[in-house]
Amino acid sequence: MNHEVIEKNMGLMVVLVIAVISLGGLAEIVPLMFQDTVTEPIEGMKPLTALQLEGRDIYIREGCVGCHSQMIRPLRAETERYGHYSVAGESAYDHPFLWGSKRTGPDLARVGKRYSDDWHRTHLINPRSVVPESNMPGFPWLAENTLDGEDTAAKMRALRSVGVPYEDADIEGAQQAVAGKTEIEAVIAYLQQLGTHLKARR
Ligand code: HEC
Repeated sequence: MNHEVIEKNMGLMVVLVIAVISLGGLAEIVPLMFQDTVTEPIEGMKPLTALQLEGRDIYIREGCVGCHSQMIRPLRAETERYGHYSVAGESAYDHPFLWGSKRTGPDLARVGKRYSDDWHRTHLINPRSVVPESNMPGFPWLAENTLDGEDTAAKMRALRSVGVPYEDADIEGAQQAVAGKTEIEAVIAYLQQLGTHLKARR
């Protein structure tokens, strides 16, 4: 076709640009969907326990993801600081992903087991009591609010419907595992498992 025709016809140009970009995108993205390294959970991956799952929801509610990423890029500066770069299979059970992009605070993808539960407790209630220069806000109410676990089983069933392998027993015991626990216990349980599955494999 005469190139001039396209250049002088905006509508046609827009349609053709969209077609070219879509084809390029499909050629890059579709093959990924069929690669095991991208879609399969890594060896030894376990779905979050009931308490960890509630912790994750509180992490979302409190906006932690707005200051903390969970995605270590394969760059020397990052792997030296945070540990092994994140691999796709570690996020296989994450719905939605909490990779984030804003790093006001450090990346948390491998924070699990780096500090004690007590450290996290103190830090979450008042970050400046353990890191004097910290500008992270305190979340003291987490230590006061308790969970009733009424929705936990339903959340697990919803996750199971999108492929997270919860067993019936996990779901049946969910409310009991959560009821009466404080929110801070749930958040700490969630934090302490972050990034630990890959480490266990190495
Ligand atoms: C306004 C931004 C901000 C928000 C919101 C925030 N943080 Fe932080 N966080 C920081 C900063 C800055 C640091 C580094 C200083 C420190 O350790 O307190 C940090 C440090 C941390 C650390 C220690 C990481 C390490 O490797 O030393 C953890 C764990 C953490 N935050 C968890 C959380 C959790 C859980 C939430 C939500 C309940 C949260 N943060 C919300 C800014 C934030």
